[in-house]
Amino acid sequence: MSTSPLTQYCITIINTNEEYLCFEGKHLLQGMKNLGKCSIPSGCHGGGCGVCKIQVIKGEVEKVTMSRKHISQKEERNGTYLACCVFPKSDISIKVIGKIKRKLVNKNNNFVFNYG
Ligand code: FES
Repeated sequence: MSTSPLTQYCITIINTNEEYLCFEGKHLLQGMKNLGKCSIPSGCHGGGCGVCKIQVIKGEVEKVTMSRKHISQKEERNGTYLACCVFPKSDISIKVIGKIKRKLVNKNNNFVFNYG
């Protein structure tokens, strides 16, 4: 079954139990930006800075090659990717980790409500 160019998938951020929609063909960080939170780090959007590390827990994604400087082979085997290099192919669940987690989730694992 082919999908239309307007296909959207539901992305669940497990850390915060928050959901957002992401168009097929748009990377997960672009979709996350639609949440309108200024706390979401805006890095290079090209896999170069490593700020947008996530782990895909459930669902299908398509990914482009990521720098080993930021994602090791072991991490990639565990579903850890850079959100700007991953495109949804189904509804998915992710965990934010690393620098992006520090920006979005406080030490009590609650979402940082920081709307720009
Ligand atoms: S925004 Fe720079 S690696 Fe994703």
